[in-house]
Amino acid sequence: MKLQLRIFCLFVAAMALVIGCDRDKGTAGGSGKKLTVGFSQVGAESSWRTAETKSVQDEAAKRGIELRFSDAQGKQEAQISALRSFIAQRVDAIILAPKTKDGWDEILKEAKAAKIPVVLVDRGVNVADESLYATLIASDFVEEGKMAANWLAEQTGGKANIAELQGTPGSDPANDRKKGFEEGIKAHPGMKIIMSQTGDFESTKGKQVMQAFLKSPEGKNINVVYAHNDEMALGAIQAIEEAGLKPGKDIIVISIDGGKRALQAIIDGKINAAVECLPLLGPHVFDAAEKAVKGEALPKRTVIKDRLFDSSNAAAALKDTQHL
Ligand code: AHR
Repeated sequence: MKLQLRIFCLFVAAMALVIGCDRDKGTAGGSGKKLTVGFSQVGAESSWRTAETKSVQDEAAKRGIELRFSDAQGKQEAQISALRSFIAQRVDAIILAPKTKDGWDEILKEAKAAKIPVVLVDRGVNVADESLYATLIASDFVEEGKMAANWLAEQTGGKANIAELQGTPGSDPANDRKKGFEEGIKAHPGMKIIMSQTGDFESTKGKQVMQAFLKSPEGKNINVVYAHNDEMALGAIQAIEEAGLKPGKDIIVISIDGGKRALQAIIDGKINAAVECLPLLGPHVFDAAEKAVKGEALPKRTVIKDRLFDSSNAAAALKDTQHL
């Protein structure tokens, strides 16, 4: 074979390899068939969640995956119906951001019987049989609570009367952020949670609960607000200001998420610190879903590492964050 012909054949073979690898992305087991994935999102209660939804949608579009999206508007029953509908549509994989920890066994058994892998994103579930889901990709919420407690212990010298705004009852982040925070303050007898109630991860509810706290007989003793997310911290700030007090000064405010508005509030001196919780999980989720569809082994859990922001690093973080 002439040299030019050989070079031409090598070029054609290399191109076929490149196209083959590319086609493997976003396809069912490299078959060339476009992947179809159902995504059941719990709702849109916070800008964190909006950022997570966008990250999953953007990544699906980037990989050429057909995404069927369902917003449950905060209702677990709607998530279960969405999953049942995805199973009936015979999607290749399901992504689930579950509202609460309990109540998933039956529907996950249906997905498993239909051989549809389920990737859990950002929140975990309590199930009798862990093989009912392929993997969980989430932050360590206990660790986030501990980080908040440790920062607070250092800043207050271990003395604080804390009002806690909890997330959605029964949800993984509400349970674990409470647990981690309580573990963190245990070593400091001068740090007490004097009031604690759910604000459901929503700004308006966070504000209402804080208003009620401040009006209660013990309200004048509050000198720290620990909010399980930015949204509720921002609502609490409004309540504090409307009560004629200065958030960040009269009352220390610490939250979890560390989104753009919280970072700006740190720069403005209204939030003192925020523990990051990364919502940009789309790439991790589809790496896992593609592997699960091919039947590849996955770790049962991937932990996303989070940082803490305060006045020392908020401005720098705000410059490069993509979090809403
Ligand atoms: O599950 C993650 C939590 O849910 C985020 O901290 C909160 O903002 C969201 O609503």
